[in-house]
Amino acid sequence: MMLLDVENLSVAFDTPDGTVRAVNGISFQLDAGETLAIVGESGSGKTQLAFATLGLLARNGRAEGRVRLAGEDILNLPERKLNRLRAEQVSMIFQDPMTSLNPYMRIGDQMAEVLTLHRGMGKRQALDESAQMLDAVRIPDAKARLRMFPHEFSGGMRQRIMIAMSLLCRPKVLIADEPTTALDVTVQAQIMELLSEIRAEFGTAIVLITHDLGIVAGACERTMVMYGGRVMETGPTDAVFANPSHPYTLGLLAAVPRLDIPQDHLSTIPGEPPDLTRLGPGCPFAPRCPLAHEPCREVMPPLQPFGDNRLRACHAPREEVK
Ligand SMILES: Nc1ncnc2c1ncn2[C@@H]1O[C@H](COP(=O)(O)OP(=O)(O)O)[C@@H](O)[C@H]1O
Ligand SMILES: [Mg+2]
Repeated sequence: MMLLDVENLSVAFDTPDGTVRAVNGISFQLDAGETLAIVGESGSGKTQLAFATLGLLARNGRAEGRVRLAGEDILNLPERKLNRLRAEQVSMIFQDPMTSLNPYMRIGDQMAEVLTLHRGMGKRQALDESAQMLDAVRIPDAKARLRMFPHEFSGGMRQRIMIAMSLLCRPKVLIADEPTTALDVTVQAQIMELLSEIRAEFGTAIVLITHDLGIVAGACERTMVMYGGRVMETGPTDAVFANPSHPYTLGLLAAVPRLDIPQDHLSTIPGEPPDLTRLGPGCPFAPRCPLAHEPCREVMPPLQPFGDNRLRACHAPREEVK
C-alpha cells in the first residue's frame, strides 16, 4: 500500500479579490521510506499542497480530489480521526522553528509533553526518550540541554530540536517545508545531512519542500517541479538535474548559485509569477517561457511519461527541450 497517494488534488481559496487557485490537479505518490523533493518558486502552491494532504487548509480554502494517507481518505475523514492520524503518521516542520516551539517552556518539558500525550509515557521515561531523540539529531550533551529554553539555542540547533520533536511519535512521513531557508549555507548542509541520517535510521519517508534547487541534489531520490499550482515535471532527481526537461526547470537550475559560474552571471527567470485568480486555460508558465508558442497559451499540456520514470507537462517541441 502506498503511504501517501494524492490524486488530482486541487485547492482553491475564496478571497474578496476572487478565487485563488493555489493547487491545480496534482497527483503524486510516496512509498514508505522514500524521499521526494517538491520545488518551485515562492507562490507555486507547495505549502498549500502539503497542508491539503494533511487536511489542514485555512478556513477559506477548499480541497478537491483524493488524498489517501496510510489508507485513509483524508479529505473525508472526521476531525477526530484526522487529528489522530496526523499525530501518529505524519509530522511537518517549517522554516522558522520558533513558530512551533513554546518560548516559555523548557525543551525537555515540551518534548516530554508530546510523549505523555500521544504515547502514554510517564514523565521520567518521556524525558529519557526526549534526551535520546536530541542525541539522535546530534545535539551534544543532550541531557543537560533538556533544561534549556528555545532562545538559548542557535537557529540551526533549534531546527534540530524541531526535527527531534517531530520524530517523537515515530511518524511514517516527515514533511519539511523550507526547513533550511533561514539558515546559513554551512548549517543548511548539516540539516540536510541530518535528514538523510534520519531517513536511514528511522526509515521515515521525507517530503522536502523548497524553492532552492541547490539543496535538493543528493538529498532526495525524486523531484517534483511545481509552477502555478501544477506539476511541470517530475522524475529521479539525478535525471532532472543532469537533463532538465521543462523550460521552467531549466530556468530554476540556471538560478542556482554555482561555484563554477561567477555570481554576476547568476540569472533569474524574467517575468512575474502568475496571478492565481486569473489562470487561463494554458500552461501557467507560458507568459514567461522562452519556448512558448500558440498551443501553450490555449491548452494546459498533460503530464506525459518520457525517459526513465519521468513525466513532463510541456507542448514545446521535443528537440528544443532536452
Ligand atoms: N488562506 C489563503 N487565502 C487566499 N490565498 C491563499 C491562502 N493561503 C495561501 N494562499 C495563496 O496560495 C498561493 C500558494 O501559496 P503557497 O502554497 O504558500 O506557495 P509556496 O509554498 O509555493 O510559496 C499563494 O498565492 C498564496 O498567496
Ligand atoms: Mg511555502
